[in-house]
Amino acid sequence: MRAVLSDAFVFFGATGDLAFKQIFPALAGLIRDEDFDLPIIGVARSGDLDTLRARARASLQASANLDEVVLAKLLARLRYVKGSDDDLDTFHALRTELGEAAHPLHYLAIPPSLFAPVIDNLKRSGCARGARIIVEKPFGRDLASARSLNSTVHRAFSEASIFRIDHYLGKEPVQNLLYFRFANSFLEPIWRREYVASIQITMAEAFDVADRGAFFDQAGTIRDVVQNHLLQVISLLAMEAPSGRTPEAVRNQQFKVLDSLRPLRPEDVVRGQYRGYRSVKGVAPDSTVETFVALRLHLDTWRWGGVPIYVRAGKALPVTATEVLVELRQPPEVVFQEIEPPDGNHLRFRLTPDMSISLGARAKRPGEAMLGEAVELFARHQSGGERPPYQRLIGDAQRGDQSLFAREDSVEAAWRVIDPVLRTAPPIHEYVRGSWGPAAAAAVLAQGDHWHDPEAAS
Ligand code: BG6
Repeated sequence: MRAVLSDAFVFFGATGDLAFKQIFPALAGLIRDEDFDLPIIGVARSGDLDTLRARARASLQASANLDEVVLAKLLARLRYVKGSDDDLDTFHALRTELGEAAHPLHYLAIPPSLFAPVIDNLKRSGCARGARIIVEKPFGRDLASARSLNSTVHRAFSEASIFRIDHYLGKEPVQNLLYFRFANSFLEPIWRREYVASIQITMAEAFDVADRGAFFDQAGTIRDVVQNHLLQVISLLAMEAPSGRTPEAVRNQQFKVLDSLRPLRPEDVVRGQYRGYRSVKGVAPDSTVETFVALRLHLDTWRWGGVPIYVRAGKALPVTATEVLVELRQPPEVVFQEIEPPDGNHLRFRLTPDMSISLGARAKRPGEAMLGEAVELFARHQSGGERPPYQRLIGDAQRGDQSLFAREDSVEAAWRVIDPVLRTAPPIHEYVRGSWGPAAAAAVLAQGDHWHDPEAAS
C-alpha cells in the first residue's frame, strides 16, 4: 500500500539556525529537483512574512544555492504564523492557515524543551490529525528523557508518523556501508570475529564549536555525535543481513545491534576538552563538557563477541574527516618475516568529507628480499551529485518512508549504551587545538592496537 503524500510543510523555529542552515536549502533543493509544491508554513515568535522571506533569500545566498527561479517559487509558497509554542491560539491560527491540507508534515526545529507544549497544542488544535512529525536530534538528553519524549510524541502521533531525524543516515556514503556489505559476497565470510581484529571509527573536525557554545555546552561530544550518528554507523556496519527488502527489515537489524552493545563503563571512555573552550561565548567558565571523546565498545553477539570497537570524535582536531577502519587479523609470520610488524589488512570506509572504500593489503617491494609494503586498493565514488541529507530526508518524510529515520526502540537502545557514562562522567583531559586529543585517549586501546588517523581531504 502506498503511503499518502504530505500536503503541507510546517516548520517550527522558522527564524532559527537550523532553518537557516539546513531547512531552506533543503526545501529549495526539493523544489528544484522534485517539484515540491506544498504550502510551506513557518512558525516563529517574532517577525512577519517579509522577514521570513528575507531570511530564506539570505539562507540560499549563504549556501551558494541561489537560483532565482527556485527562490521565487519558495517565496511564493512561504506562509507565516507568528506566535508562541505554548499558546493554543497560535495553533488554531496554524490550522486555519493549513486550509484544506489534511496531511501536514510538521518539523520541530526547536529546542527539545519546547517539544512537549508544541506536540500537545498540535493535538488540541487538530493540526496533528492525519499529520506526520519530524523531530530533530538530540532526541532526549539521556535514557529517561528520551523515553519521556517518546511518550510525549506518542500522545499525538503513531510511530508510523514519527520521523526522528539523524542526518548521517541520509548521507550517501553511510548508505553505501549497507549497500557494499550486502551487495557483495566476498565480505561475508570474513566479516566476523575470527577475521576482524578491531573496528575503529574516527569522526574528526578541524573546526571548533564556533558560535554554538551555548548549545554545545548543554550537550558535549557524546550526546552530539556518538549517541546518534556514530552508533547508527556501527549499526549498519555490524548488522546481520535484513530478512527482506522492507524498511522495517533493515531497522530491525539495526536495533538488534544497538541492543547488543554493552553499556559503557567509565573506564571505557576518555573525555577531552580543547584549550580555550571555556572562553567561548555561551560556555560555562568552569565547564567540564567534552569536545573530544575516545571510547571502546563491545558487541555481545556471536559474530562480534571479543572484537573491540573503538570510537573517537572531537572538535579542533588536525583534519575534518570521518572514517571507519575494519582491521583484519595478521597472518602468522611463518612465511615472511617483516622487519617491522606490519598492520593487518584492513577495509577503510571514508564517509566525509569525500567518500572512498579501500582495501589495505601488502605487496612485495621490488627486489630480491621477500619484504613488503602497504598498498591500498581503492574503490572511489565521489559523484558529488547526491541529494544533500536534509533534502533527501524531508522528501522521504513527505512520502512517509521511514527507512532512514531512527525508530523508537533504537533511539532508546542507543541511550542505554551511553547513559552510564553520562551519570558518572569520567574526568576531563585538556588537549591542544590541532592535536589528536589528549594522550590519555590511548588508554581505551587494547595492547598492540593504535589509532589510525585519517588524512585531510586532497
Ligand atoms: C551535527 C552536530 O549533528 O553533526 C555537529 O551537531 C557536527 O556538531 C555535525 O559538526 C557533523 O555533520 P557533518 O554532516 O558536517 O559531518
